[in-house]
Amino acid sequence: MMPLLEINDLIVLYGEIEALRGVSLSVDEGQVVTLLGANGAGKSTTLRAISGLAKPAAGEILFDGRSIAGLGPEAIVRLGISHVPEGRRVFPGLSVKENIMLGGSNRRAGKAELSREADAMFDLFPDIRAFSNALGWTLSGGQLQMVAVARGLMAKPRLLLLDEPSLGLAPVIVQAVFRIISEIRRNTTVLLVEQNARMGLSVADHGYVLETGRIVLGGKPDELWGNEAIAAAYLGGHAKVSA
Ligand SMILES: Nc1ncnc2c1ncn2[C@@H]1O[C@H](COP(=O)(O)OP(=O)(O)OP(=O)(O)O)[C@@H](O)[C@H]1O
Ligand SMILES: [Mg+2]
Repeated sequence: MMPLLEINDLIVLYGEIEALRGVSLSVDEGQVVTLLGANGAGKSTTLRAISGLAKPAAGEILFDGRSIAGLGPEAIVRLGISHVPEGRRVFPGLSVKENIMLGGSNRRAGKAELSREADAMFDLFPDIRAFSNALGWTLSGGQLQMVAVARGLMAKPRLLLLDEPSLGLAPVIVQAVFRIISEIRRNTTVLLVEQNARMGLSVADHGYVLETGRIVLGGKPDELWGNEAIAAAYLGGHAKVSA
């Protein structure tokens, strides 16, 4: 079977800085694939290259068999890739529901339809249902993260790119976010960036470890954890996944 997303020898430069030095990875339809790595490893840059926010200097990005490297972000959203970036960028002066509806602006749906779908989104995100009419700036970090993910899903993507959805959240909220990821995976393929290896791999079918712009490791979560030396070196020293 052809992977939904295939990246070969991807190189991305920021001026002199080689952020990605030949990244290759693939994501099969229906999977959750987790990209792990320390600060500055190139995780966000990988997602930005896929969604058209960073231009590849070289290499191949194939989505559903079609080359998308170099296309603009709008064209890439239209093809079915939705990117929830770092930092939960929610519009502070719009309501939660308006923020969520904005995620559907790539589609040809009318306002009434988007409104219905945004309401239905609260089934997946019950914690923010009561805040539907509240303005973005009044929400907590965890609530903002849920709004950002809900907005990403409104695009009805075939592939959802999630950049560190758990960053800075209290443990109980992190668990809520990961519960949502487990729900999302029923319908949508997910490429998840995480620094928290244990959480990131707990929902994954496959994991990759990035180090200074290169993939140094890839495998099924139990293979990654199974090798204690590797786990200690790359996964934060916890050789066991406590499920
Ligand atoms: N806009 C930019 N201009 C210049 N250098 C950048 C820019 N964005 C990222 N970099 C550099 O590219 C490299 C990869 O950064 P990237 O943001 O992809 O890492 P990351 O793995 O997402 O890190 P973090 O965990 O801190 O989010 C780093 O060396 C970073 O300093
Ligand atoms: Mg990042």
